[in-house]
Amino acid sequence: MRSGAFPVARVHRKLILVSMTAVDVLVVDHPLAQTRLTAMRDQRTDSATFRAALHELTTMLVYEATRNIPVDEYPITTPVRLTQGTRVANPPLLVPVLRAGLGMSDAALGLLPESSMGFVGLARDEHTFEPRAYLESLPADLTNQPVLVLDPMLATGGSLIHCCRLLADRGCTDITVLCVLCAPEGIARLEASGLPLRLVTAAIDDGLNEHAFIVPGLGDAGDRQFGGMPRFAS
Ligand code: PRP
Repeated sequence: MRSGAFPVARVHRKLILVSMTAVDVLVVDHPLAQTRLTAMRDQRTDSATFRAALHELTTMLVYEATRNIPVDEYPITTPVRLTQGTRVANPPLLVPVLRAGLGMSDAALGLLPESSMGFVGLARDEHTFEPRAYLESLPADLTNQPVLVLDPMLATGGSLIHCCRLLADRGCTDITVLCVLCAPEGIARLEASGLPLRLVTAAIDDGLNEHAFIVPGLGDAGDRQFGGMPRFAS
């Protein structure tokens, strides 16, 4: 695990919290998370295995991201006696960033079955590296609505900033972004955006190459899950 230029405070043997002015970064470096990440990085991994590893890793990221989620208590009766039960007080809206974020949706919904979902479709231009939006399906009002954004990759940060601005424009002030991998350049851009968000990831890599791919990274998470697809004409 690398922390780049960011201040690091070790809060748990397997969790590292990086605190900055606007963005808190939680790196989940649990060994079982890292084995799934290794499978995703390995170029020999086929699409089915890649999708399975992403599903399992997302479960771990959601688990850690929701550690302090507010809960309500309510009475239930076990076969033995009355006791108190627990439920999530305000289930977060899940927002996968298409395409690649789709591979995180089932795992997130599995842990948060009461959650609703919104969708944002973005494709990064191969030359400018800027996101092009092709789908925006979100509730009009996100006031008092926590949101979990799902996207395996934070590279330049353009895609996630676009998505998080859509959320903030709807009144959302509680955004948690779940990424498998981050580049320090993308984290810095999120921080500079001033958006109110938190980032949970399995790794912060070395940086970006000349094609704005994360290094060492895992390639293109969308292509590795679903195969290549024609890019939008410029
Ligand atoms: C990838 C990835 C992120 C984005 C990250 O998606 O899934 O959404 O690029 O890059 P950025 O931080 O530089 O914006 P891509 O545009 O390749 O589309 P896909 O999910 O359809 O493969």
